[in-house]
Amino acid sequence: MSTVTHPNAVLPDVELTEHAAHPFILSQLFQADPNRGQRYAGAVGDIYVNYAKHWLTDETLSLLERFAEHRLLKAATEQLFLGATVNVSEQSPALHTALRDPQNPLPLMHNGQDARVLIRAVLEEMYRWVNRLHQRAWLGSTGETIEHIIHLGIGGSDVGPRLALDALAVYRHSRAPSVHFVTNIDGLEWQLAQSACDPAKTLIVIASKSFHSTETLLNAKTGREWLLTHGLNPKDHLVAITAYPERAKAWGIEPHHILTIGTWVGGRYSLWSAMGFCVAAVIGVEGFQSLLAGALAVDNHFRDATTLKNIPALLGLLSVWYRQYHRIHSRVLVPYTQALAWLPTYVQQLEMESCGKSCSQAGRPIATTGMAVWGQVGTNAQHTFYQWLHQSPDVALTDIIVVAKPTSSLAHQSELLASAVAQSQALLEGLETPNPHRMIPGNRPHTMIVLPELSPYTLGNLLASYEHQIYTQAVCWGINPFDQFGVELGKRLMAQLLPYLNNPKAASDDVDSATQAIIQKIYSYQSY
Ligand code: F6P
Repeated sequence: MSTVTHPNAVLPDVELTEHAAHPFILSQLFQADPNRGQRYAGAVGDIYVNYAKHWLTDETLSLLERFAEHRLLKAATEQLFLGATVNVSEQSPALHTALRDPQNPLPLMHNGQDARVLIRAVLEEMYRWVNRLHQRAWLGSTGETIEHIIHLGIGGSDVGPRLALDALAVYRHSRAPSVHFVTNIDGLEWQLAQSACDPAKTLIVIASKSFHSTETLLNAKTGREWLLTHGLNPKDHLVAITAYPERAKAWGIEPHHILTIGTWVGGRYSLWSAMGFCVAAVIGVEGFQSLLAGALAVDNHFRDATTLKNIPALLGLLSVWYRQYHRIHSRVLVPYTQALAWLPTYVQQLEMESCGKSCSQAGRPIATTGMAVWGQVGTNAQHTFYQWLHQSPDVALTDIIVVAKPTSSLAHQSELLASAVAQSQALLEGLETPNPHRMIPGNRPHTMIVLPELSPYTLGNLLASYEHQIYTQAVCWGINPFDQFGVELGKRLMAQLLPYLNNPKAASDDVDSATQAIIQKIYSYQSY
């Protein structure tokens, strides 16, 4: 496959710059066009998206459409799906879309192998594992039935499964194991998991694409010791999900206890792979297939729809519009359901690791790239950062996400939904009053996203839509959304500094004086 090439890192689009200089007063735009609220809306999969409350007119859209054409968005999208080398710095394709399309008969060749063969084989093996758990046929070393999973992973090997399990709690299979996540290196989550699980009935899943992350490997070591302390044979209780099965075997995992993922799937794009094993274990094979189908529907939409009907492309272009032409640098997500509590963190990693870059695919410097992403569930967010959203001189690009059907069995839904639409109206209209303390400017751009219900299918719709918005931004800026070298330096330094924590005097001249002082202070506190 050919390498993706982008014409130029920075696009000095005079027309968009001039257009952005016009005032976009939403209240006036709504007055001028009674159909605005209906016209600027569309669907992606089963999800309704209303983008009428954005700083845009038909002219904006047509300029953004031309911008996308200039950036060869359609061709770049096709290259993603066809397995071209879209991750140039690592000379790799990014095949997460293929994970959602396992039955596609067309071969997808990478390094002389058809990636679809691996995808199908691993998926089948994963489904066998799930069925074994549900049939209560997976036994630990003392013959006890496995009833608990402790999932060890971090970043993309953690957040997607966590989000999906929270979101889909009501889809729990009647024979699903309990699932506990251990991510951080500090040991607290491990203590909680240990007290919640009987080790004889526990399967520990070491989920690490690289099988290299310090956090996950330390937690894995602790897991093995825990099993040994209880007189269990770790081989029967440990499984691994990784792109490097040889490393897992060398660590002591039985070959038949390894699910392999392709090196061509980015960690933050890996929920759809065997990384989603614990999700499938809880919602069942059909549930997981429905999650994949939801993502596939959005893949097809992103691939086929014209730019202005293409919701992920359009939302990605709007991010570029605000970031590049209005200098907005925050993107805020507020899902109005506790079930999507992990969504802001998920999109934070997805977008910030993907678009937090400062050079083009070709290595040229770029001044403007992705925004900072953060958020929190509504209504809680209304009592934390909404004050800033409403009255700060800074403007954030906001997504308000609601689920029409309740995600709890209590009769709270009307109040919840009323809160979401009220905040949307407040962001739009603001409040005019002579009292400057009470004045709310309004005119805050935001997208309203409405899921009919929260199901595996609509969750697949939602997450794939965010992935493609991010890809769109990356294509517009000409950056590589699939590497993350920025996180490597800290990992390397951690290994270098580790010995000094127990021997601060050894911290030599290559450690700066402030770091030396901090290490010494920590050491002195520990020796009290
Ligand atoms: O945070 C950096 C990162 O490399 C992420 O991109 C990745 O999702 C995470 O670490 C975990 O990596 P691994 O699955 O290899 O343990």
